[in-house]
Amino acid sequence: ASTLGAQAAQTGRYFGTAVAAGKLGDGTYSTILDREFNSVTPENEMKWDATERTRGSFTFGPADQIVNRATARGQRVRGHTLVWHSQLPGWVGGITDANTLRGVMNNHITTVMNHYKGRIHSWDVVNEAFADGTGGQHRPSVFQNLLGDGFIEQAFRTARSADPAAKLCYNDYNIENWTAAKTQGVYRMVRDFKARGVPIDCVGFQAHFGTGGPPANFQTTLANFAALGVDVQITELDIAQAPTAAYANTVRACMNVSRCTGITVWGIRDSDSWRAGENPLLFDRSGNKKPAFQSALTAL
Ligand code: XIL
Repeated sequence: ASTLGAQAAQTGRYFGTAVAAGKLGDGTYSTILDREFNSVTPENEMKWDATERTRGSFTFGPADQIVNRATARGQRVRGHTLVWHSQLPGWVGGITDANTLRGVMNNHITTVMNHYKGRIHSWDVVNEAFADGTGGQHRPSVFQNLLGDGFIEQAFRTARSADPAAKLCYNDYNIENWTAAKTQGVYRMVRDFKARGVPIDCVGFQAHFGTGGPPANFQTTLANFAALGVDVQITELDIAQAPTAAYANTVRACMNVSRCTGITVWGIRDSDSWRAGENPLLFDRSGNKKPAFQSALTAL
């Protein structure tokens, strides 16, 4: 096949991109989106500061725009994200009582997931909860500080009740290298969840890489997580300067692991990227395919 989505579909996988609601009216952007991708992730529109900016008052307009548009075109949607320390409104960070926060967190998860019930392929239930450079420590956040380590389990249990059909993912960065302490910490959590029956279906590897691309053992990491009984996905791929070899290696790592079910790049054109200065994506500022596009396609 000549497009990323169609080629990925030949092995039952998807190839997706992050999408910004404000760019859907840009014809170059939407043409590439619909030609190449069969999955979308709202880049910011489902985050807490976008969906519940004030307590109990929910806004779904911009995210609905993305979801409705994708659904009408047969593209899947990844939900991103329900519980994260960043892009969190100040009122949540200001909560000082554990029971209040637990109720607020559960209500947020339930309300957002209910709104999209049946329409989200995978949800990033918890994003970036682990600290860098440590083996299993969670980073400080209002959730960690008031609810303790159990906040992740609580979030996944609430998510399962809200939409039993959605795959529930833990998503993080710098967990691609198998020997990194952070990777090992997340691995032990997933192993523990599976052993105790805490609902978790997938692990998302953000894959925000430098010019060297993925670590040589990335495929090993994907395979080892998959062996725990979860799907794995590459969820936010971008690579500084987009070297062809680095993209090919990343795609191949996924293709070689049967439970690696899909790849999402974090934007369409370099100018759409949160790392725009590093030109990390598959299309240039004019929407032309870069060399990395062909190397990714060939590796699929
Ligand atoms: C980024 C978006 O791309 C930016 O537009 C926004 O300003 C900040 O967040 N990890 C994640 C994503 O899980 O949600 C982040 O997205 C990039 C890092």
